[in-house]
Amino acid sequence: MSTNTYNNGLPNIDELQNLANELFKALPNEFPKEISLSPDKAEHPRATKIAETILHAGNTDQFGQIPAISPSNIQPAPPAFSGFGASPSVLNYGNTGVSVLYPNAGAGFDPQSKNTSSGVQENHNLNIDNPHTGFYDVNLKNGNPAQLNEETAFSSLLLNNQYLPFQTENSSFEIELQTALKFVDTQFRKREDFPLNGNETAASYYFLDQNPFAFDKRSTDIIVGNSFDHKEISLFKGHHFDAALVKKDFPILRETVNGKPLVWFDNAATTQKPQSVIDRIAYFYEHENSNIHRAAHELAARASDAYEAAREKVKVFLNAGSVNEIVFVRGATEGINLVASSWGEQNLNSSDEIIVSNLEHHANIVPWKRLADKKGLKLRVIPVDDDGQILLDEYAKLLNSKTRLVAFTQVSNALGTVTPAKKIVEMAHAAGAKVLIDGAQSVSHMKVDVQDLNPDWLVFSGHKLFGPTGIGALYGKEDLLNDTQPYQSGGNMIQDVTFEEIKYHKAPNRFEAGTGNIADAIGLGAAIDYVTKLGIEAIGQYEHYLLEYATRLLKEIPGVRLIGTAKDKASVLSFNLQGYSNDQVGQALNKEGVAVRTGHHCAQPILRRMGVETTVRPSLAFYNTTEDVDTFIKTIWELKKVRF
Ligand code: ALA
Repeated sequence: MSTNTYNNGLPNIDELQNLANELFKALPNEFPKEISLSPDKAEHPRATKIAETILHAGNTDQFGQIPAISPSNIQPAPPAFSGFGASPSVLNYGNTGVSVLYPNAGAGFDPQSKNTSSGVQENHNLNIDNPHTGFYDVNLKNGNPAQLNEETAFSSLLLNNQYLPFQTENSSFEIELQTALKFVDTQFRKREDFPLNGNETAASYYFLDQNPFAFDKRSTDIIVGNSFDHKEISLFKGHHFDAALVKKDFPILRETVNGKPLVWFDNAATTQKPQSVIDRIAYFYEHENSNIHRAAHELAARASDAYEAAREKVKVFLNAGSVNEIVFVRGATEGINLVASSWGEQNLNSSDEIIVSNLEHHANIVPWKRLADKKGLKLRVIPVDDDGQILLDEYAKLLNSKTRLVAFTQVSNALGTVTPAKKIVEMAHAAGAKVLIDGAQSVSHMKVDVQDLNPDWLVFSGHKLFGPTGIGALYGKEDLLNDTQPYQSGGNMIQDVTFEEIKYHKAPNRFEAGTGNIADAIGLGAAIDYVTKLGIEAIGQYEHYLLEYATRLLKEIPGVRLIGTAKDKASVLSFNLQGYSNDQVGQALNKEGVAVRTGHHCAQPILRRMGVETTVRPSLAFYNTTEDVDTFIKTIWELKKVRF
């Protein structure tokens, strides 16, 4: 709305009408597409009919007819609007969060009227204390007006017109997203255009302050109400992904923080654990606990079987050719250090070159930099564009006969960029270099198939895959692992030891010296089972929807700068908010129960490339809902309203 809307603090009725009409255009077809704010100019017959029905519920004349709209029988304005020369009244359209303003020209209508003789539900009358005033529309298919209530009217809307993602096979999630966002966008524009000023309370603007996401929340509720038993979650595979239901598998997500339901948006740092993972670890300690590979007793057999079964699960999850290609490590960081210390130490020599990308987490920079400094290697960096995507042309220029290794991330933890991994691997191999992929941020969001991607190594962390901390995996090609010197030395990794000679096991034991993290490896196996049951493709699709939903809303908040805008992104929405430090934003979100990471995310080079030192970084997972996103977005809007 233009600034001249406010004339001595009073709204301009024409502007309000334009606004209302704009709002109506964004509504589903059942809603009138225009409506006049002026009773004597009520041009749209259906809009007029609706208005008449609502305004005159029970107010029939002596002939049983609903009187025409006239200035004398329109609901007086809520407090914030009173004092205007022609203060508008507010009609709230069910739980859509949509309202229509009417100019007030006097009293005469009883807002508390409970007369139901017109057939309209009594609690659908205009009620200044309850903005959720419903109305019926003849196009709604569920019964006649007398039978309708808000719930059925709204379900009908949903069933006939709007869907949650994957609720129907007939509509792609993009279409659904567009529909949901169109609705939401309109609401937010209104919030922005009607900033609160010192004399107005938030409640007085209930036209604007109804939850702008009522549509989406309501649809989620309906789905939950009709949902399958959550133990049969695999039924949702593919087209039916119900995040609200999935959330119930994660006990920690029932926590409250500052009296608010926890919204876990720090998934890039670590993910929460489903009950099945927690139970599996407890079961291990209750029934199986033993060291592995080392004894003939029953519990050693149980523990060894469970541990090796977990290795098999990782193998299948990554589509590796053999369990011998899966080494359990502490996490992605240890996996990279392992390769640097074993293969790097063994094979790289002065003037050899290592290429990393500008996107890398410190874990995929520091081990190589240290090795480079120690051995006189050259570390070269693939630049990114302003959106944060790798520049393949520049990468091609860096490759040469001295390139021995290309180490890069499949998904940037700081920006969320999904890199063209397969292409990067192909180009490296064509140049004769080995390739390590950091899969720490990718395996939880997309299918990672090592036979398809064809890296020489790939690492990931269990705790970012809904499994325990302190466990992860290194995938390495079997021959390469067997040709590589051990990393750490001790028990479990040797075949034979004399004081004269030591024979090492082949991979994977060769790289698993000492007693490993047995329980958590088994817990990781349970996490993989869980993710596999949901279906990684369905997870990826749903998260893509959620990321688009959140991105569209976040970037429309004035003062927000998104850091990382690559076309291909997963899970992460890094940003700054003008007028606030990132910590202030993080704290404000925490007050609302929303957990995000603020800081440099252990990826200083890429943040500096984007011109910042730190960001606020919400990062999403499949148990996050649009309702979680709404809480986050609303908090940022509130901050924005306070400062500018
Ligand atoms: N690497 C983790 C993150 O990005 C800790 O937050």
